[in-house]
Amino acid sequence: MEIPFSRWHAAIPLRRSRRRYNSIPLEPVQLARLQTVCAEFRPYPQARAELLSESPDKVLRGIAGSYGKVKGAPALIAFIGDINDPYVNEKVGYTGEGIVLEATAMGMGTCWVGGSMFFRREVAESAVGAGEKERVFAVTPMGHSAKGFSLEERAQTGFGMFHRRKPLAEMVSGLDEGEWPNWIKAALEAARLAPSAVNRQPWRFNVEPDNITVSVDSPLLDFGVSKRLDCGIAMLHIEVAALDCGVKGRWELLEAPQVAKFKV
Ligand SMILES: Cc1cc2nc3c(=O)[nH]c(=O)nc-3n(C[C@H](O)[C@H](O)[C@H](O)COP(=O)(O)O)c2cc1C
Repeated sequence: MEIPFSRWHAAIPLRRSRRRYNSIPLEPVQLARLQTVCAEFRPYPQARAELLSESPDKVLRGIAGSYGKVKGAPALIAFIGDINDPYVNEKVGYTGEGIVLEATAMGMGTCWVGGSMFFRREVAESAVGAGEKERVFAVTPMGHSAKGFSLEERAQTGFGMFHRRKPLAEMVSGLDEGEWPNWIKAALEAARLAPSAVNRQPWRFNVEPDNITVSVDSPLLDFGVSKRLDCGIAMLHIEVAALDCGVKGRWELLEAPQVAKFKV
């Protein structure tokens, strides 16, 4: 599937992690659209997404009121990857974020959930029929989020603290900002808005006139979720913004601590 870049680029600033849903089941046409995108947005054979429209509460868990507790979602999407692939985290992040941006464009709420205390991995794997070499890396609730943020949901985001982003100046090296072409500006701004586990924003960007290299700030796997998965999400944001500026590029996946280079 070609990336619907204008639609997904417009969704980037609208997306926020939502943890309260109104329980209204999704319309058959919405389920069908999500199923189609899960089946067709497969940029890498080693990563895929699967819609679960029954009993998402069996997969989601967490202590009421805590950061990770999701309530009332009528459906769920699992992000699955091949554990034998050395780049599986990046590929799952990149693929999963495509589904998240499409859902956002459809007016739905989402929230990446990767912490093992917040979802039951084995239950999700059995529900999606994961193969022997496959693992569910994360899930997202899918549905219409409650109107506005309740006090409880605001408390879960640390009253906005878990949504705040670092300034680009803290994350970018290389070419001086004054010399960035427009597409690089748009791509970095889009990457900055990417979601990351516990909002750690682990990505670093090195800019050259015709490319952006993504690296991780440190290789630590905190919160039980690889930082390379967060970087895979930022990679999709970079490419979507570049395409929307009329710039086509290719990703080259790199060894740690680098993640990937996007070259025009
Ligand atoms: C890979 C990944 C895993 C995440 N895991 C959880 C989780 O287990 N529980 C949770 O409540 N939020 C989780 N989040 C959501 C982040 O907390 C959220 O994206 C971040 O705080 C930024 O907020 P925003 O998405 O509203 O911009 C996760 C996000 C990512 C990208």
